Amino acid sequence: MSVQSTEGVLAGRLVMVTGKGGTGKTTFAAALALLSAARGRRTLLCEIDNQRPSLTPIFGSEPRFGPQQVRPGLDMCNIEWEPALESFLEGLVPSRRIVKLILGNPIVSKFLDVTPGSQELVELSALGQYVDQYDMVIVDMPASGHAFSLLDITRSAMGLFRSGPVRRRASELRELLTAETTRVAFVALPEEMVVNETLETIQRMRSFELIGGEPVVYLNRATLPTLTDGERELVARLGELELDPAEAEFVRAGRWEDVLEQSTAHSRERLQQGLDLEPVLVGPVAPGRSAREVVQDVAVSLGREVGLTRRDLSWT
Ligand SMILES: Nc1ncnc2c1ncn2[C@@H]1O[C@H](COP(=O)(O)OP(=O)(O)OP(=O)(O)O)[C@@H](O)[C@H]1O
Ligand SMILES: [Mg+2]
Repeated sequence: MSVQSTEGVLAGRLVMVTGKGGTGKTTFAAALALLSAARGRRTLLCEIDNQRPSLTPIFGSEPRFGPQQVRPGLDMCNIEWEPALESFLEGLVPSRRIVKLILGNPIVSKFLDVTPGSQELVELSALGQYVDQYDMVIVDMPASGHAFSLLDITRSAMGLFRSGPVRRRASELRELLTAETTRVAFVALPEEMVVNETLETIQRMRSFELIGGEPVVYLNRATLPTLTDGERELVARLGELELDPAEAEFVRAGRWEDVLEQSTAHSRERLQQGLDLEPVLVGPVAPGRSAREVVQDVAVSLGREVGLTRRDLSWT
């Protein structure tokens, strides 16, 4: 079974973080970016055309199209549609005046709105440009379904355009995506539906050969086993007895812990069997932490795996 670790992720050049909605994509993208910068690699953390950027509460300022520094060695940006399109056209059309004319033409905007995939191609293209400028680009991708179509777009565009500049751009991007140093990090939770979606998306990405590097799966909010088999049996037996309220409360807590541990174990087994890879388990952080603090705690927890300490990651 392949063991994919954070070490492997940090060796990449383009890392795309995806997963079902609300699993922790933004948190893990930001945490991985902090680790990468702490390793001394010039790192860019991107989100894609988010109207209300999720990086704002984490870094305390709003990411824009142009990268801005948020800590030493770490920049962030938001690949907003209009400037991304302008920059894409500038790469294809030599004259700025013509680019302005194209952008100002309502038929062109209509055409782009209804042409499937044009938006994805433009957004990916912006990522491609950043890969040339940074040691590492980490992308807070949309949720799995949309992420899949975003990554699949180079293939469709190459089917659509047999020659010309768009075809060339699409084929360069395809080369980037299928490089060994391009990786997808999936964030999953120990829940049936989330694991299903993770399995399906990774299997589909593999069968389409969309991405060069092996995927890594983070099982977030995992509950690591603490109960022994004997304790588990005891808790189950106690649950059947008539107990006074305080005792019953205590047993309920034990049973809940058992349920959580088992759902983590079950999810982990399904991921191992379905994908032939070992997920990386990350526990829940203490309740009441802000989005920024959760990122920091997750970074510390992933950092332990690669020999970085809280001190290396202090960023206030
Ligand atoms: N290990 C964890 N322990 C506790 N809270 C966590 C953990 N991971 C993420 N969170 C919290 O869960 C919430 C969702 O996380 P996040 O925003 O990273 O998910 P997302 O997948 O990016 O969501 P969306 O699909 O909305 O973009 C946030 O409030 C985050 O702080
Ligand atoms: Mg998010």
